[in-house]
Amino acid sequence: MSEVEQIWKKRLHNPLFNTSYPLHPTDWKKYRIAGELPFTDSCCAFYVHIPFCAQLCSFCEYTRKRIPEEGEQIKYLYTLDKDIKAFISKHNDHQQLYGFDVGGGTPMALSDHVFTLLMNLFARTKERFRLCDDFEPSIEGTFQSVTEHKLKEIVHSGIRRISLGLQTSDRAVLRSYKRNDVAIETMKEKMEFIRSCGVEKINLDLMYGLNGQSEGSIDFDLSTIATLSPDQVTLYELRTNMLRQKPRVSLDKNFFSYSRYYEKLIELGYFSQFGQNTFSKYKEDLGCSSYLRHRMLSASSYKGFGIAAQSMSSMGISYNFGKNSDNFSLDEVSYEKGETYLLPPKELAAKYISIAAYCGSFSLSRLSEILGCDAEEYFYHQIRFVLNRHLMEQRGDKLCITREGFRYYGATFSLFSSPLP
Ligand SMILES: C[S@@+](CC[C@H](N)C(=O)[O-])C[C@H]1O[C@@H](n2cnc3c(N)ncnc32)[C@H](O)[C@@H]1O
Ligand code: SF4
Repeated sequence: MSEVEQIWKKRLHNPLFNTSYPLHPTDWKKYRIAGELPFTDSCCAFYVHIPFCAQLCSFCEYTRKRIPEEGEQIKYLYTLDKDIKAFISKHNDHQQLYGFDVGGGTPMALSDHVFTLLMNLFARTKERFRLCDDFEPSIEGTFQSVTEHKLKEIVHSGIRRISLGLQTSDRAVLRSYKRNDVAIETMKEKMEFIRSCGVEKINLDLMYGLNGQSEGSIDFDLSTIATLSPDQVTLYELRTNMLRQKPRVSLDKNFFSYSRYYEKLIELGYFSQFGQNTFSKYKEDLGCSSYLRHRMLSASSYKGFGIAAQSMSSMGISYNFGKNSDNFSLDEVSYEKGETYLLPPKELAAKYISIAAYCGSFSLSRLSEILGCDAEEYFYHQIRFVLNRHLMEQRGDKLCITREGFRYYGATFSLFSSPLP
């Protein structure tokens, strides 16, 4: 048995190997530097994190807290504004923005007044830049947080894509994770209303791997999707790395769930590739905002603002203040002080693979650019193994996960990311 095969076998049933990278925060200890992440790339995207929610779902791995009173919300936005201005004044050589996502938490959980301030901040910031042709900003919310006022502000500021969480239509499962459900008729009415306000694309998030989900609940989700007919669907497998919990659902059950969602979504007319977690009615958009699309396809640079936001440039990765903390303070004068890692090419390549895994494939030429050498030579043994075992197949410049490979996607993708001992 080759060394690569031995490692793959060892990782087969280890749930730590998924799309999270690095596996342990301490893995990058030796690359940590004091100071800011250098940003020299001429094109990047922005991400603004709003860490507030009306309810705190217990499956959620994002940095968030219950929405505070309006004065505290304003304080958060004020600090965000200062951080964004400081970044722009230092990096005015960034000529182009390829994306701008506002996520969380639940940005739409802000009060109407503070939400207006957020949309003004978005519009003002975006105006400072040249925008790429496929620039498609996006904002996250829940069905409960959508209001007419917020939709008007969203459309007025130039955002035409909204992403809402459905997670599962199984009320008992949702409630067991402390999340309230919304009646299907209400969701349908809201979606019609969102469209009538000028929003062009609605994405719905679904999750699998949740405790209590069954074949029946998956079929119920799929009939809900057929009824609501969102433009895009994002399918998330429950990740528990950050929650410090062990997953209770087996890899085989997760594979079965994904396959069932995949087959039916394709039947419903959505475009995707087996192993990809985004689905779209439009072939060209890959089922996500331009911020995620560029990141998945080519590991493009992005700058995150706000608590715990992550940034990546061609030099490394940084995390803003608040990472791994659910008890953060809103009294900080800046969220920019966090952890910065200057990474060597092999670690940047690993990060690219872990992001690209969301679309089930990665580009060999982009990997070569990041590594600074021929990826086919660098990963000669890994590529030979995954192709011989039909875990991946080569389509043009891309290595794409196969059905068999996706069953063990963590072990398979990690051959190219987590170092072989
Ligand atoms: C940042 S959240 C914001 C969504 C919005 N607040 C909501 O609840 O609808 C984006 C999506 O991440 C997914 N998500 C949350 N926790 C997750 C976890 N532990 N593993 C995988 N996906 C998760 C959910 O599908 C969620 O809709
Ligand atoms: S899933 Fe959404 S609403 Fe629930 S805690 Fe996470 S960000 Fe908040």
